[in-house]
Amino acid sequence: MPDRDESINAVLRYYDRTESRLGYLYLLRGTKHFGWYEAEDARWRLSPAMRRMEHQLGRRLGLETGSRVLDAGCGMGEVARTMAVHFGLDVTGIDILDFNLDEARRRSEKAGLTERTRFVECDYHDLTRFEDEEFDGAYTMETFVHTADPERVLAEFHRVLRPGGRLVMFEYSRTPEARLTPAARAAFDAVCELGAMPAWHRLNHGDLEDLLESASFKVESVDDVTARMLPMLRMFALLGRVPYALARLLGKTEKAVNAMSGVEMWKHQEAWHYNIYTATKKA
Ligand SMILES: C[S@@+](CC[C@H](N)C(=O)[O-])C[C@H]1O[C@@H](n2cnc3c(N)ncnc32)[C@H](O)[C@@H]1O
Repeated sequence: MPDRDESINAVLRYYDRTESRLGYLYLLRGTKHFGWYEAEDARWRLSPAMRRMEHQLGRRLGLETGSRVLDAGCGMGEVARTMAVHFGLDVTGIDILDFNLDEARRRSEKAGLTERTRFVECDYHDLTRFEDEEFDGAYTMETFVHTADPERVLAEFHRVLRPGGRLVMFEYSRTPEARLTPAARAAFDAVCELGAMPAWHRLNHGDLEDLLESASFKVESVDDVTARMLPMLRMFALLGRVPYALARLLGKTEKAVNAMSGVEMWKHQEAWHYNIYTATKKA
């Protein structure tokens, strides 16, 4: 596992790349998470699916109106705004990308949500700017794989949550290396390396549950919802096929990381799951 500064720099580099900036902005309109699809949904209807995934979060948090919530790795704040508008929550979003935070603030201002959403530059490994027990809830939406120090992040979430506070995480787990074919292993390693996701290497299925219990959380539920997000991944795989093939031909795979991830994650579905973890801070 790389050290923390090195891994933070890798995350910054990954999101600052042209492919990441353009892809997230124009394809996903600034949101950076998978959607929740019902059987009848068309895969290209991305925004409704992403909003449905966010509603899964709000329901699982299950907090009263006005509850204070930490959005760790908030991106451009779409999730935070859904939590504020549809669930009445008071959200503090943190991220390490200043251009995400600027856009998050701009969008919240435009939506008249500056009182209920605020965005702060902060690394979730170090939440010292927040008080002990400051929040009623916390969540991560597809960011925990970026950490180089999962135990430290969970300890910080635990400290800033009140006893009984809720933690909901939308995160990936992996199939143990020994059970993968060499091709799946190579693809998985490339996705983790180029996508700046060191924690995913060590998060085998079941491991995050153990880490949460060790950090004094009670795990309430773990739902494998991979089937719900696969239609969106299928679309990424189709869109990524040509750019990835070209990049490989030119020996420049590092220029097409998202295209590669879409194609390889689709191809090697046996290598990973997408899960929703719901936990409560023990009193
Ligand atoms: C896949 S994006 C998800 C963004 C947002 N949750 C969403 O769903 O649109 C992951 C986000 O986590 C942020 N991130 C990664 N490491 C972080 C860290 N150590 N502290 C805070 N944010 C971090 C990234 O900058 C990025 O915005």
